[in-house]
Amino acid sequence: MTEPGTAVGAVAERATAGFRQWYGAEPAGRWAAPGRANLIGEHTDYNDGYVLPFALPLRTVVAAAAQDGERWTVWSELADSPVEFGAAEADQAGRVSGWAAYVAGVVWALRAAGHRVPGARLAIASDVPVGSGLSSSAAVEAATLAALVDLGGLDLAADRRPRLAQRAENDYVGAPTGIMDQSAVIRCRAGHALFLDCRTESVEHIPFDLDAAGLAVLVIDSRAPHRHADGEYAARRKSCERAAELLGVRALRDVSPADLDAALTRLDDEEMRRRVRHVVTEDQRVLDTVALLRAGRIRDIGPLLTASHASMRDDFEITVPEIDTAVEAALATGAYGARMTGGGFGGCVLALVEASSADAVARAVVEAYAERGFAAPGTVTVAPTAGAARLD
Ligand code: GLA
Repeated sequence: MTEPGTAVGAVAERATAGFRQWYGAEPAGRWAAPGRANLIGEHTDYNDGYVLPFALPLRTVVAAAAQDGERWTVWSELADSPVEFGAAEADQAGRVSGWAAYVAGVVWALRAAGHRVPGARLAIASDVPVGSGLSSSAAVEAATLAALVDLGGLDLAADRRPRLAQRAENDYVGAPTGIMDQSAVIRCRAGHALFLDCRTESVEHIPFDLDAAGLAVLVIDSRAPHRHADGEYAARRKSCERAAELLGVRALRDVSPADLDAALTRLDDEEMRRRVRHVVTEDQRVLDTVALLRAGRIRDIGPLLTASHASMRDDFEITVPEIDTAVEAALATGAYGARMTGGGFGGCVLALVEASSADAVARAVVEAYAERGFAAPGTVTVAPTAGAARLD
């Protein structure tokens, strides 16, 4: 098992080395943003509901400096050589594709909001694994945004940044995601989970001090191949929006648990009923989790995490065999609770465990995988860290 967290030093050094190598100069500064895990509240964000993510000790670092003209040159350690684009490409959604689209999308969203974005050279290094459902894309967006805002002296308060980064993803890259990931990687605080009301965007930082409680969150990367994740995500979102329309509410957040049964009888489609049941019960599980954490009862949130998983598996139907195997093995080895985190169809599981049993739980998951013939999962223990910031 990997040790908790990774020092930001190494990844920042890689970004700086890339900057020097490709641009033959020193960066003006370095900006970091974390990946995120969602403790609970899945597929509730685009239903105007509640989420409770926290920032991971895995970071993306952007080393950057301004350059003349409206030109942006971006290198990433995932690529062979830099990608360059100008205002014309930045102003037309989708013109830049691949990993650089997240950077171009941020330039686009800033310009669309009327900001004078400085030309810049950027070098990106990251410890957030790509395609694991830990929001590597939001981390790139947030670190890029922080860099461009600082380099250009732009006036953009932190609480307005998530919406802008989300626009980059929704409207430039073309992924119909909610506001959770960008909010998490920008607004989280160390030692806390972020209780976000996705309708009002109001936040409360909820103490989630695992160390003090002798607990750990084990993150298990299922390494499951993504199976049609984009199409399935969009289909879930559509189904929820259609259900809200049929029920005559602005969003599913407006169906209370007390009204759920009555609401379900008004929907003909069995599949849609299950989708609605997931969202309505999941919102309530977030509220219940927050109440327990406010009372300092971290261990007691376990059953809520596990219930959330069952709801994602049976009602929202977004889990896969590797993910369910990891959850079952963790629970069988004494985890207080375990659930998939993120959009689904692969990605990661998180398990709440005694810190002293994290190794045993990780081993049990690896063994369960081997028995089923799945490719070995990754495991790491994490504690909540802070959102995007300038490093120096
Ligand atoms: C992805 C999206 C988020 C959210 C989650 C599911 O991570 O980017 O907006 O919808 O899936 O909770």
